[in-house]
Amino acid sequence: MNNTDLVFQSYGRCCRNDAFFIDFYDYFMSSSEVIKNRFINTDMAAQRHLLRNGIMQLILHARGMSDRKLRALGESHNRNHYDIKPEWYDLWLSSLLKTVRKHDPEHTQTLESAWVEVLTPGIQLIKGAY
Ligand code: HEM
Repeated sequence: MNNTDLVFQSYGRCCRNDAFFIDFYDYFMSSSEVIKNRFINTDMAAQRHLLRNGIMQLILHARGMSDRKLRALGESHNRNHYDIKPEWYDLWLSSLLKTVRKHDPEHTQTLESAWVEVLTPGIQLIKGAY
């Protein structure tokens, strides 16, 4: 199985439990006070739902799907909109890896490397639109 298939299946196991998205935002928001402040006025239930789809878009991008949705995320996150600093994406990714580690019963170090490899191009696209 290739890395995108491994990650696709791992994400399927993670998504079985809604706590995955609760834990992700707990980890992400506790990684920095500035991150936490960005979500002060956010409806977190809606946000968790949107992220579910956002992660899927990153995986689909690695599988060769169109860039259109990631470009829209690049636009909403850039300096003229949410103003999400490029360096914050490392915190985002490490929070996600920590959440996968907790929720995927089949987690291994190899799988974690696959997650990094698969998500990095899509994250670069969003970050690169800053
Ligand atoms: C909104 C995904 C990284 C902060 C959103 C939305 C999605 C999303 C799908 C909702 C759609 C939209 O408003 O455009 C992602 C993905 C990321 C990422 C896939 C990583 C590649 C980050 C980072 C931050 C952040 C690093 C830093 C704090 C926000 C904020 C909103 C948002 C503040 C708006 C919340 C609101 O509506 O109140 N993100 N995001 N995102 N994201 Fe991200």
